[in-house]
Amino acid sequence: MLKIGDIEIKNQVVLAPMAGVCNSAFRLTVKEFGAGLVCAEMVSDKGIVLKNEKTMNMLYIDECEKPLSLQIFGGEKKTLVEAARFVDKNTNADIIDINMGCPVPKITKCDAGAKWLLDPDKIYEMVSAVVEAVEKPVTVKMRMGWDDDHIFAVKNAQAVERAGGKAVALHGRTRVQMYEGKANWDIIREVKQSINIPLIGNGDVQTPQDAKRMLEETGCDGVMIGRAALGNPWMIYRTVQYLETGKLMDEPTVREKMDVCILHLDRLIALKDEYIAVREMRKHAAWYLKGVRGNARVRNAINECNSRDELVGLLNSLAEVEEEVIVG
Ligand SMILES: Cc1cc2nc3c(=O)[nH]c(=O)nc-3n(C[C@H](O)[C@H](O)[C@H](O)COP(=O)(O)O)c2cc1C
Repeated sequence: MLKIGDIEIKNQVVLAPMAGVCNSAFRLTVKEFGAGLVCAEMVSDKGIVLKNEKTMNMLYIDECEKPLSLQIFGGEKKTLVEAARFVDKNTNADIIDINMGCPVPKITKCDAGAKWLLDPDKIYEMVSAVVEAVEKPVTVKMRMGWDDDHIFAVKNAQAVERAGGKAVALHGRTRVQMYEGKANWDIIREVKQSINIPLIGNGDVQTPQDAKRMLEETGCDGVMIGRAALGNPWMIYRTVQYLETGKLMDEPTVREKMDVCILHLDRLIALKDEYIAVREMRKHAAWYLKGVRGNARVRNAINECNSRDELVGLLNSLAEVEEEVIVG
């Protein structure tokens, strides 16, 4: 069983943290599809310290999402520790994760995210400080390095372990790669062999079979799934089932896809107001519609709709196309 500190995780399938995606509405939906652990989108340490209203709203966690890992990012020890302490005392997150992978210049310019990957000593110092300040287990999510000339994944993961970190999640790409090229799973195996805390492998798990292959080829303790779960919580369910039984479940029907998309929409409306939720849901709807017959017909309309009823009408019209085909 995957165990992070004293948090027991019922299977090896982890939803990756994704900014602008992994809020409570999506996490809860993915949790219901069987994820062992869900990760929240990254939250700014300074936003927490300054009690920024939008940031505070990002800390909301439904009890049903647990166990949950809440990720913070920052580049300065003082604010990172203060933010971690706040999350520790004031949220029902189970795990505090530190972001060491975000490649975006806005973040790395502030010495946060992937910038840390260049300095294992800084990693040790910062993680130690956070670990000392909180009771919840602390973990780190990192990329394998800054660029091809600076791949310090082994040293960096060992620094996390020495500092008292309870697990590492490793995305097998460098910062410079962004999302290009193929994730390197060899480095995941190398890091797994060099630390004693759990290692969660990440990068390019697109199918349940990929998840099994990553576990087998790298020996990692869990698999983290990001983009393949966008508009597709079935990916999580099918992976859990495949790892447990070796059976590949059918892909969902269009009706099932649209129903879950509407459930996700309603949860987002409950979390934010309808206007914001519907606009935010447009990108999710496009992901749910991937591969659905007739989706091109409604894509523009979805990108312009502003109300729940409009969006639900469009989604239902696609499911009806499928139902007509089946009946016909
Ligand atoms: C839209 C999006 C947002 C992301 N936001 C975060 C984030 O907030 N924190 C983080 O550590 N990684 C973030 N990532 C990286 C993912 O967690 C993951 O490492 C990456 O997508 C590779 O995994 P995959 O191939 O399964 O997608 C994000 C990725 C995407 C696509």
